[in-house]
Amino acid sequence: MVNPVPAGPYLIIGASAGIGAALARRLARHGDEVVVAGRREAPLQALREENPDCAERIHPRVMDVTDFEGLREAIAAVERGVGPIRVCIMNAGEYEPVGADDLDPAVFERIHRVNYLGAVNTVAAMWPLMRERRSGQILLTGSLSAYRGLPKAAAYGSSKAALLSLAESLRPELGRAGVQLRVINPGFVKTRLTAKNTFHMPQLMSPEEAAEAIFKGLGRPGFEIAFPKRLTYTLKLLRLLPYWLYFRITGRMVS
Ligand SMILES: NC(=O)c1ccc[n+]([C@@H]2O[C@H](COP(=O)([O-])OP(=O)(O)OC[C@H]3O[C@@H](n4cnc5c(N)ncnc54)[C@H](OP(=O)(O)O)[C@@H]3O)[C@@H](O)[C@H]2O)c1
Repeated sequence: MVNPVPAGPYLIIGASAGIGAALARRLARHGDEVVVAGRREAPLQALREENPDCAERIHPRVMDVTDFEGLREAIAAVERGVGPIRVCIMNAGEYEPVGADDLDPAVFERIHRVNYLGAVNTVAAMWPLMRERRSGQILLTGSLSAYRGLPKAAAYGSSKAALLSLAESLRPELGRAGVQLRVINPGFVKTRLTAKNTFHMPQLMSPEEAAEAIFKGLGRPGFEIAFPKRLTYTLKLLRLLPYWLYFRITGRMVS
């Protein structure tokens, strides 16, 4: 059966490594044009060179989500070269475990600048172009940690919670103009980001498994692509708990 993923061109910002690189490979092998973007050119070029079976469909471009004007110009240049972007995935992300003993405001600023303000910049740059065409999808990569405050996730979790709220807030208006705003909420995926974790990560997935879950989700309607299923349901359930019970559980995680 043919998977009904939307046709490209795709733009994946944050595609030089991890989940984004695996998703770019998956989409290019499927036959879609994929613009792969990030701050460093070398790994983007390597992604193209290391996949000769679909290299002609992989288009590397340097972009930094923290630079709004630069991002807008880079997206305009992509549209002139490759054609109108049908699906834009803002996947760039930074992570640092942060707890009460290491409350460095500079770390919060760095993480929020990429994860949250990067999402704001991407929507602000992309949506006017899609509104004019009255079609397109913008997907923001959040995290299951966005649902509720978790120990050691003070900086990262709050940036992803802000991203989720942003998407919930804007989705109705974009939807009225024919543009779908969606979120991708992964659980734990084995990448350089999670290599920083010293705790046990339940249901840890490979980037290829994560890419496959996203690929399948692209073909389905709905606001959220969340995976893996068991961890998603557990965290959705925790979201429903009253504070006294929730803090009894998270209190055990810090002792
Ligand atoms: N791994 C997990 O368990 C997990 C779980 C939930 C959510 N996520 C989210 O999934 C996304 C991908 O994470 P990953 O684990 O695959 O991490 P990764 O391997 O470190 O990839 C992050 C990507 O973001 C790019 N990037 C970082 N800052 C950027 C910026 N300012 N502008 C443009 N690109 C930038 C990086 O490329 P350059 O360095 O070349 O710019 C890289 O391609 C992130 O949003 C992350 O928060 C990951």
